[in-house]
Amino acid sequence: MGRVVTDPSEVAKAISSAPPRPPCARVLMAAPEHFSVESAINPWMHDAQGNLNQVDRARAQAQWEALADAYRRIGVKVDIIDAPAGLPDFCFSANQSLTCLDRNGQPLAIMSRMASPTRFNEVTYFRDWYAQRDFRVMESPPGLRAFEGTGDAIRHHGRHVFWGGVGPRTMAQAWEFVGEATGADVIPLTLVDERYYHLDTCLAIMGPDTALYIEEAFDEDSRKRLQTGFTQLIAVDPHDAGNFACNAHCPDDRHVLIQHGSRVAGTLREAGFEVLELDTSEFMKSGGSVFCLKQELP
Ligand code: ARG
Repeated sequence: MGRVVTDPSEVAKAISSAPPRPPCARVLMAAPEHFSVESAINPWMHDAQGNLNQVDRARAQAQWEALADAYRRIGVKVDIIDAPAGLPDFCFSANQSLTCLDRNGQPLAIMSRMASPTRFNEVTYFRDWYAQRDFRVMESPPGLRAFEGTGDAIRHHGRHVFWGGVGPRTMAQAWEFVGEATGADVIPLTLVDERYYHLDTCLAIMGPDTALYIEEAFDEDSRKRLQTGFTQLIAVDPHDAGNFACNAHCPDDRHVLIQHGSRVAGTLREAGFEVLELDTSEFMKSGGSVFCLKQELP
């Protein structure tokens, strides 16, 4: 059974002693056919006057296709789930579930409990998608009020360990449950800034030793855990924080898919990464970018 590791001095050991995990070779994306901004459930969804952002759906579709193509170009297989009408945030397929291989090597899908009523019904469609394939589907326990899947559960690279966000979308209790269900240790990180409402808005893992993060998004204990977990922990500047640079995705320790214009792209290239800059501006109007638009499949 996986433990919840809170003591910073135990983080490095928890990671190095965890079972190995292969790189990400397959993702699940949800078409943005019905994507829109209809109510503001995070601070990025409205302007300074409080007016809801307006999405250009044709542009969103083109940006989404360019992201899917980028995955295919770097050798990541893309599966697609059809989008039902009436669920404007459905395309953020990081959030409705968490998948991994279970102890017997069988694909496991743990279903989320969405924090906002406007997103509750999304989970049903993902549950059906997994159930129709060879996934074992597991529900979140009844008493768990909020758990938003890989919006808050970020896999360490190379090891079967999760970093777990604790904030507006996921309760701390989720991590005991995830540890038990997956057998992996979970290192919790407390989110303290409402702009960074999911862990994937403020932490992007690039490799076993390397990650990007937004310093002010975390409390002090959490920063200590991050510092002991990554020897190369890169704090992004305010420009990049607002540009969703920390919602980048690196599937394979080599290619980085990141929002266009992120300054940290230069630092990553110098460190040897192949950086693909993409435009996700329509999705940023809803508070998301690259990482939220896919679910890593085992
Ligand atoms: N509008 C969506 C929400 O607030 C955006 C979700 C973005 N997903 C993410 N993993 N950060 O729920």
